[in-house]
Amino acid sequence: MQKLSGTLRAQGKTIGLVPTMGALHDGHLSLVRRARAETDAVIVSVFVNPTQFGPNEDFTRYPRDIDADTALAAGAGADIVFAPPVEEMYPKNYSTYVSEEAVARPLEGASRPTHFRGVTTVVAKLFNITRPDVAVFGQKDAQQVAVVAKMTEDLNFPVRIVVAPTLREADGLAMSSRNRYLSGAQRAEALALGRALAFAKGMVEKGERRSDRLVAEMTHLLAQYRRVRVIYVALVDRRTMEPMREVEPGRSMLAAAAWVDEVRLIDNVTL
Ligand code: PAJ
Repeated sequence: MQKLSGTLRAQGKTIGLVPTMGALHDGHLSLVRRARAETDAVIVSVFVNPTQFGPNEDFTRYPRDIDADTALAAGAGADIVFAPPVEEMYPKNYSTYVSEEAVARPLEGASRPTHFRGVTTVVAKLFNITRPDVAVFGQKDAQQVAVVAKMTEDLNFPVRIVVAPTLREADGLAMSSRNRYLSGAQRAEALALGRALAFAKGMVEKGERRSDRLVAEMTHLLAQYRRVRVIYVALVDRRTMEPMREVEPGRSMLAAAAWVDEVRLIDNVTL
């Protein structure tokens, strides 16, 4: 892969990277199209990264279908699908990790303490292997974007991070590979997250600025769904993930995570 990307660079081509864990859906494909629009050669990585899953998380049952993913990625404009085996990314003697220690702490970091260390480690490796000019990430995983942007700046990776908007189903559910785990009844309740965020965004558009009011209203709405258990609802700075007491347009974001029975979902809206 390193050789191939060297050849592309020698030909004067700019490289776009879209890191994924596969089980590709339209949200992923929108990132591929974005990379296609920004660069000459698009690499899509498909790698279910073991280091970002906690011990009781869904690593083994995470959906894997490399043939379907390759066809979908190619259809959206990918030139290369990079799907390394686990032993190639993490050989037996593997012992080096990259951890960002501020942006990664709150929200997802609080309930998944080793998650972002796995993400930054694999993204750093993917940057070194593919040497992209541009890497595209989705706003769906807003804290991931913020952590990766901070790592890129702190470690001087010569990569421009592009953030693409969250793609939603017609009924507002944010697309996610984990939506495949939802039964019909659970899927109906999963809509709570997007609805509560959209409602709060509406409040902000009508002039509400106070974090406590927005969070209280969202918590109340979410409590009406029988299968939903809130993990967090927070108004934060979209770059640092630090809590904010008041909305500052352009800087703030509402983020939420919840269990729908045993499926963990996240969503957010920028304000
Ligand atoms: P994965 O969950 O497969 O997501 C790959 C990329 O697709 C991420 O940048 C994610 O934010 C984006 N994405 C997911 N759902 C989206 C949606 N509905 N709309 C727009 N973009 C969406 O995130 C990961 O994989 C991994 O942590 C990874 C970065 C690949 C590192 O292992």
